[in-house]
Amino acid sequence: MLNFPILLILDKRLFFSATKRNREFIRDELSKIIRKDGLVLEIGSGSGEHGVFFQKRFPEIIWQTSDPDLLHRKSIISWIEYEELKEKMPQPLELDVLNIPWEIPLKSAYSLQGIVSINMIHVAPWVCTIALLKGAAKLLNVGQFLFIYGPFKIGKKYTSQSNYFFDNTLKLQNDLWGIRDLEEVSEEAKKNGFNEEKIISMPANNFSIIYRKVSS
Ligand SMILES: C[S@@+](CC[C@H](N)C(=O)[O-])C[C@H]1O[C@@H](n2cnc3c(N)ncnc32)[C@H](O)[C@@H]1O
Repeated sequence: MLNFPILLILDKRLFFSATKRNREFIRDELSKIIRKDGLVLEIGSGSGEHGVFFQKRFPEIIWQTSDPDLLHRKSIISWIEYEELKEKMPQPLELDVLNIPWEIPLKSAYSLQGIVSINMIHVAPWVCTIALLKGAAKLLNVGQFLFIYGPFKIGKKYTSQSNYFFDNTLKLQNDLWGIRDLEEVSEEAKKNGFNEEKIISMPANNFSIIYRKVSS
């Protein structure tokens, strides 16, 4: 009798509406670059819906989620339990990109093959973009990837009117948030030893950017 309410109390899963719309498109792009071993570190995992989805799609690897927000980490834990991935997926790391060097278990750092960050850099101050690139550069070896997904301005211009409105909505919430200029992000990436390998146009006026570590 009590099983149902207890489950409801323990279930801390959050549901982010964009995740269901974008996860398959992102999965398709990731499948072109992910090797069938090792670990992928996700930065700013949010609800954890992407994490469990990618873990199921890429069963050969370990998907390591992370987020600085406690409620998000609780949601990730709940999603991992709900999808019965506890044996496979590690618990989310408490990782704020600003705290460089990032604290990653040694074993995970050793098996790392790449880093993924989805819809994080525009929902955080610009210093977080700089920190993401710096922190990723410290962890990744030459040849490994950093995959960033989200909306971008190209040549300082919005790629759609909806992104213009979205940017204004973001800035109303926090004036340090906002859609980033792809060229500025790639310039920072370059300073940290990354090459902008590929820009992929995605549905809903988003982009996937693949950066490849080319020098240390
Ligand atoms: C818009 S949510 C996106 C969540 C998820 N990646 C998705 O696409 O559904 C942005 C996430 O970035 C995380 N975030 C914000 N500032 C961060 C920081 N300094 N370091 C790491 N993650 C951060 C937030 O906690 C939040 O989970």
